Amino acid sequence: MITINKVSKVFPQRKGGVYTALDQISLTIQQGEFVSIVGPSGCGKSTLLNLIAGFESSDIGSIEVNGEKVTAPGPDRIVVFQEHGLFPWLTVLDNVAFGLKQTGLSKKERYLLAEEQIKAVHLRKFMDRYPHELSGGMKQRVAIARALVMDPDILLMDEPFAALDEQTRFILLKDLEEIWLKTRKTILFITHNIREAVMLSDRVIVMATQPGRVKKEYIVQAARPHVSSDPLIHFLENKIMDALTDELEKVVREELGNEYSIKKNAISNSPADSVGVGI
Ligand SMILES: Nc1ncnc2c1ncn2[C@@H]1O[C@H](COP(=O)(O)OP(=O)(O)OP(=O)(O)O)[C@@H](O)[C@H]1O
Ligand SMILES: [Mg+2]
Repeated sequence: MITINKVSKVFPQRKGGVYTALDQISLTIQQGEFVSIVGPSGCGKSTLLNLIAGFESSDIGSIEVNGEKVTAPGPDRIVVFQEHGLFPWLTVLDNVAFGLKQTGLSKKERYLLAEEQIKAVHLRKFMDRYPHELSGGMKQRVAIARALVMDPDILLMDEPFAALDEQTRFILLKDLEEIWLKTRKTILFITHNIREAVMLSDRVIVMATQPGRVKKEYIVQAARPHVSSDPLIHFLENKIMDALTDELEKVVREELGNEYSIKKNAISNSPADSVGVGI
């Protein structure tokens, strides 16, 4: 369980003063829950994830994971970024097995575990390839396998599919849901893609910006696996789009002045078969 208790984070600004990136965020994420965060660019999504990962520390408030205060990164929380960060000089198998070196397992055990995770992300045939020989989607699968092989309690995913085309993204999304249904890891997933968030999550948090805070949350009570044709999924996508459009409008007004406005639903009028309902 992740408990975020009135967390604030400020960054000093070059011109002097400070910028409040997060303002009194409180959030509880249950063991085994899949939670997504959406919000305008700059609202502090990555900052929050970095605090949970232990890469940064909060100025006020505290974060606890399974009752223990987060003070540094730990093997119970693994981060998957948009940039897959694979070692280019290692094969898929070696990349996935790499993190297990410090675990005290024998080489045979390490490679057996790595193979198991590579199979789980459907890359069995590509184990001996190097990263440059893989597509973007495959690289991201390797990154997921490399995180899963460490058997963390929590996966922290910061826009992991953002650089992928829509079809690849959709396939990976379904694979991630399948992996989650099997492993029931706690997953915190950041995305700009509302459909992705609703399709994957038990709960979607919408953040507001300047300062970053929790605006609203939506519980996705649809049957698993989630299907995009489910009217509840569609309904929630529209609700979240409305909440986000309001928020975006505020940002745009701030930047461009009052004469500029965004038409409600203008962004969600993409073709029905598109998975790119994102902002
Ligand atoms: N190290 C830093 N120093 C100063 N300001 C920072 C630092 N890191 C983040 N910020 C500021 O804090 C705010 C939140 O940044 P953050 O990267 O968390 O946003 P985000 O919601 O992840 O945005 P995006 O959707 O574009 O990834 C931004 O205004 C950013 O400029
Ligand atoms: Mg970010």
